[in-house]
Amino acid sequence: MNKRTSQLPGFYKVTVSERRRLVAEATGVDALDIGRALERGGLDASTADKFVENVLGTYGLPYGVTLNVRVNDVDRVVPMVVEEPSVVAAASNAAKMVRASGGFRVEVDPPLMIGQVQITHVADAPRAAEAIVAAKAEILALADRAVPGLCARGGGARDVEVRVLGEPSDAMIAVHIVVDCRDAMGANLINTVAEAVADRLAQLASGRVGLRILSNLCDKRCVRVRCMVQADALATDDMDGQAVIDGIVNASRFAELDPYRAATHNKGIMNGVDAVVIATGNDWRAVEAGAHAYAARSGRYRPLSVWRREGDALAGFLEMPMALGTVGGTLRVHPSARLSLQIACIESASDLAGVAAAVGLGSNLAAVRALATDGIQRGHMALHARSVALAAGAEASEVEQVAAMIVEARDITLESARRALAAIRVRTIKRPSEQAHVPDDRGSAPALNH
Ligand code: MEV
Repeated sequence: MNKRTSQLPGFYKVTVSERRRLVAEATGVDALDIGRALERGGLDASTADKFVENVLGTYGLPYGVTLNVRVNDVDRVVPMVVEEPSVVAAASNAAKMVRASGGFRVEVDPPLMIGQVQITHVADAPRAAEAIVAAKAEILALADRAVPGLCARGGGARDVEVRVLGEPSDAMIAVHIVVDCRDAMGANLINTVAEAVADRLAQLASGRVGLRILSNLCDKRCVRVRCMVQADALATDDMDGQAVIDGIVNASRFAELDPYRAATHNKGIMNGVDAVVIATGNDWRAVEAGAHAYAARSGRYRPLSVWRREGDALAGFLEMPMALGTVGGTLRVHPSARLSLQIACIESASDLAGVAAAVGLGSNLAAVRALATDGIQRGHMALHARSVALAAGAEASEVEQVAAMIVEARDITLESARRALAAIRVRTIKRPSEQAHVPDDRGSAPALNH
């Protein structure tokens, strides 16, 4: 029986294989399975050749896990695939602050997706809309017949909505077929349904069939996340917790008032969301499209999350659409995506949506806290220094030392890293016995303290 925890102190300091062992112990997934599923990114060229066209090979990205995450009283070790330094550490660090006040509270809507059927050349739009509404039962039955497997799993068509668009002289109708997709993301199911009902809808409307496709603005499939953070947990060396709360509330207000800031605020949320969406083999473009359309639903682009003071504590709230699947698609063929679901102990698509959104709110918290205190560059550059060290030609055993030297010198450039590397190598030749021992692939995140 594993101890199912997401708290693994010192995780960042140990080797990659040691981390795999710790995650195996914490989640019950076999360490060998973890190794196998992540071998060469989990995908070889011949499998990739079945995914997309004109394949030459595969493209690797780092696969990490965010720690300390607690969602609705359950600990989750959450895989993240992302190329940007500090995103994983920042999410872990924020989750640690949040768990001290009980963790993330998440509510997820039923997995309802919208298929749109456009009907054009409609002479009398109000009459056409009435005819379609009157035939709702027939349309739902037609839709269900197109997806018998989904109906057998408890899903299926649930509603028909009609929207008249444009001017009366040139009106068109958008018919929404609302379908419960259960654990599927739903794109294929929805498109099948839309195509199956389109001719009948056009007949009812005395119009012509136009587009038949899902809407990525899946606003019936939203997730809401709340969290509290006590002031003490937010304090930095230079600022007390109350001042940090004020700074974060100010950052939230800025995003609420200004679309230029809201876009970047939301990017900080998507840093976390996308990394989980990619790690679990889901369509991040769909999630991105839905998120930004939802952010603009009032007619003005707004932040997906807001931060407020509640007494002496900070309260955060995020709401966004989240169309994710835990069956079908990439999951059928990508072992790393399947592994991610196992590591995070994901039980359903709704469960995954809640976890991804919680990591999104955590990533947002880390970003606005950094912006309200030290600024983003301190922590970010410390981690970026490691990539610069690698680019300068440092071996695994040299990376930490070179990174530390260029951070210390406040000169995180390739040139500076090359000089640091040369200096280390000269010292190593001169005094091999005096060299500090720096183990392989050990990482530290000084400013992010996860
Ligand atoms: C960087 O990847 C994300 C941030 O710009 C988000 C934000 O500004 O809130 C730091």
